[in-house]
Amino acid sequence: PRILILGAPGAGKGTQSDNLVEEYGIDHITTGDALRANKDMETEYGTPREFMEAGELVPDPVVNEIVEAALEDADGFVLDGYPRNLDQVEFLDDATDLDVVLYLDVSKDELVDRLTGRRVCDECGTNYHVKYNPPEEEGVCDRCGGELIQRDDDTEETARERIEVFEENTMPVVEHYREEGVLEEIDGEQSPDEVWADIKDVVDERA
Ligand code: AP5
Ligand code: ZN
Repeated sequence: PRILILGAPGAGKGTQSDNLVEEYGIDHITTGDALRANKDMETEYGTPREFMEAGELVPDPVVNEIVEAALEDADGFVLDGYPRNLDQVEFLDDATDLDVVLYLDVSKDELVDRLTGRRVCDECGTNYHVKYNPPEEEGVCDRCGGELIQRDDDTEETARERIEVFEENTMPVVEHYREEGVLEEIDGEQSPDEVWADIKDVVDERA
C-alpha cells in the first residue's frame, strides 16, 4: 500500500510508521529523518539545521527533491512528515497516487508533553518516552543497546514553535484531504497499541 500519515509534531507518526513498515513490508519515507541525516548540507538557502533548530520548515525545493528520489525507489511506502504545506501537496499529487491518508489527532497539551519527554536511540532511531514508553534501563536502547539522546528541536520552546508552524501551514493540508473525502481520522490520544489497532483496520479495508 501507499500510505500517507499526517499529524502534528509528536502525534505519533514515527511510532506508527514503524508498525506499518513491519506489518506491510513497505518503505518508510520520512523527510525529518532524511533532513537530520543531512543537517549540514549546503543548499542555496543555507543548511537544513538552521531551519530545524528554529522549528521552521526547510524550503520546499530541498524537501521536494528528497521525496521525489525516495518515491522513485519505493513500491509501497508510508510517507511521514510530508506534505507540510499546500505547495508540497501539489508536488506530491504530480508524483504519486495514494491509497490511504491517515490523520492522527492529538491535543496540544499532550503534544508538548510527548515531545519534551521523547528520547531517541542514537544508533537505530527507535523512539522512547521517559513516562509513556521508558526503556528497561535508563538511557539505553532495548533493541540495540545504543545511547538514548534528546533531539535538538525537542526543547519546550522549539516544540511549541513547531506546533504553531503545523497549525498555520499543515492544518490546511489536513483540510485539503478532508475536503477530498479521503481523510481517515484516528484518535491519536489512545495508547500506542490502540492507535495501531485502529490504523491497521483502516489500512486493511482501504488497501
Ligand atoms: P519531523 O522529524 O518530521 O518531526 P515532526 O513532524 O515534528 O514529528 P516528530 O518526529 O516530532 O513526531 P512524531 O509524530 O513522529 O511522533 P513520535 O512517534 O516520535 O520534522 C522535524 C523538522 O524537519 C521540522 O520541524 C522541519 O524543520 C523539517 N522538516 C521535516 N519535513 C519537512 C517538510 N516536509 N517540509 C519542510 N520541512 C520539513 O512520538 C512522539 C513521542 O510520543 C515519543 O516519545 C513516543 O514514544 C511518544 N508516543 C507516541 N505515541 C504515543 C501514544 N499513543 N501515547 C503516548 N505516547 C506516545
Ligand atoms: Zn537502538
